[in-house]
Amino acid sequence: MRSAAFTDLIGPDGVSIVEQPTPEPKRGEATVTVDACSVNHHDLWILEGDSAMVDADDLPFVSGLDVAGTVDAVGEDVAGVEPGDRVVLCPNETCGTCRHCREGPENLCENFALFHGGLAETARVRADRLVTLPDNVGAVEAAALPTAYMTAFHMLRRVDASPGDLVFVPGVTGGVGVASVQLADALGAHSVGTSASRAKLDRVESLGLDHAVESTDPDVIRDAIEDVGSVDGVLNHLGGEYTQLGLDVLRRGGRMAVCGRTAGGTSEIDIPHLFLGHKRIVGSTMGTQGDLRRLVDLVADGTLTPAVDTTYSLDETNGAFAAMQNRESVGKLVVTP
Ligand SMILES: NC(=O)c1ccc[n+]([C@@H]2O[C@H](COP(=O)([O-])OP(=O)(O)OC[C@H]3O[C@@H](n4cnc5c(N)ncnc54)[C@H](OP(=O)(O)O)[C@@H]3O)[C@@H](O)[C@H]2O)c1
Ligand SMILES: [Zn+2]
Repeated sequence: MRSAAFTDLIGPDGVSIVEQPTPEPKRGEATVTVDACSVNHHDLWILEGDSAMVDADDLPFVSGLDVAGTVDAVGEDVAGVEPGDRVVLCPNETCGTCRHCREGPENLCENFALFHGGLAETARVRADRLVTLPDNVGAVEAAALPTAYMTAFHMLRRVDASPGDLVFVPGVTGGVGVASVQLADALGAHSVGTSASRAKLDRVESLGLDHAVESTDPDVIRDAIEDVGSVDGVLNHLGGEYTQLGLDVLRRGGRMAVCGRTAGGTSEIDIPHLFLGHKRIVGSTMGTQGDLRRLVDLVADGTLTPAVDTTYSLDETNGAFAAMQNRESVGKLVVTP
């Protein structure tokens, strides 16, 4: 089978089509013919050599977390899915035995890891991580869901977002950003978000963004948000200087969830501002398989239409990463092997 493997950790030019043996499912596993796999900034960090998880010794490396497709074969001791089933993979890999696996939520697992291997014609996965798809949910929209939408779903829960709340999403045009807007909207919350691009903001407004701020300058953004109103929750996937900005605009007692570091892996924050304002900063990673099931249901009942910017063939996978690196897209980029 063919895969779009990372053969050099130098950015999009480091993706090559590599012929590899078609995997066979082992005990508890299934092989899935990949109809669609979305890409995430997580894959781009790896491809740029900016992830502690993968180094030159691991090459060629097949990334890709968010697989949707058709079960091809199942190994021993697999129940719940069979060849021919249409499925989407929850990329969470958990130990199943730690306190958090037993008591939940599973994304707190002490040995938490993520599946990689979806940017290929066939993926070998844990069968109990497959969620079956209703007929009216397509593979491309299903593949858009796992990482971005599960993460946004969990962040909304971490900030305790409620109907009528205002949530602030710095960097609103990407996978997690657009998912945050759409899920806040489904919940009855309002959103304010930022981008360097007016054209991209226009598109996110058509997907439910209530207030758009075209700027990357924290001072300009702070003033613009103060005109909109008091922010009840911040969904921060950028880090860097956006963490203090998020605290600045957050109401007293409000919460900020942090899941990423696109604009910087460290943030300086004003400690008195934090404690005098009774504000809370909470970390957040992925969501649960139950969240993914609910997201699939929201798509099936027409409440949610995942935002897919462009689809790419396996041979064009480097183009998906170039579009992400160049900040050209709105929502998700999906490879369709
Ligand atoms: N912890 C978790 O479980 C988890 C899960 C998913 C994602 N993440 C993290 O969340 C972040 C977003 O992931 P994603 O897949 O949604 O990425 P993405 O699609 O590439 O996000 C694009 C967004 O980021 C903004 N952006 C890009 N570079 C920027 C910069 N240097 N300064 C300010 N804004 C910038 C873009 O702004 P413009 O509109 O101005 O171009 C756009 O709004 C990543 O850091 C990722 O690792 C974490
Ligand atoms: Zn565990």
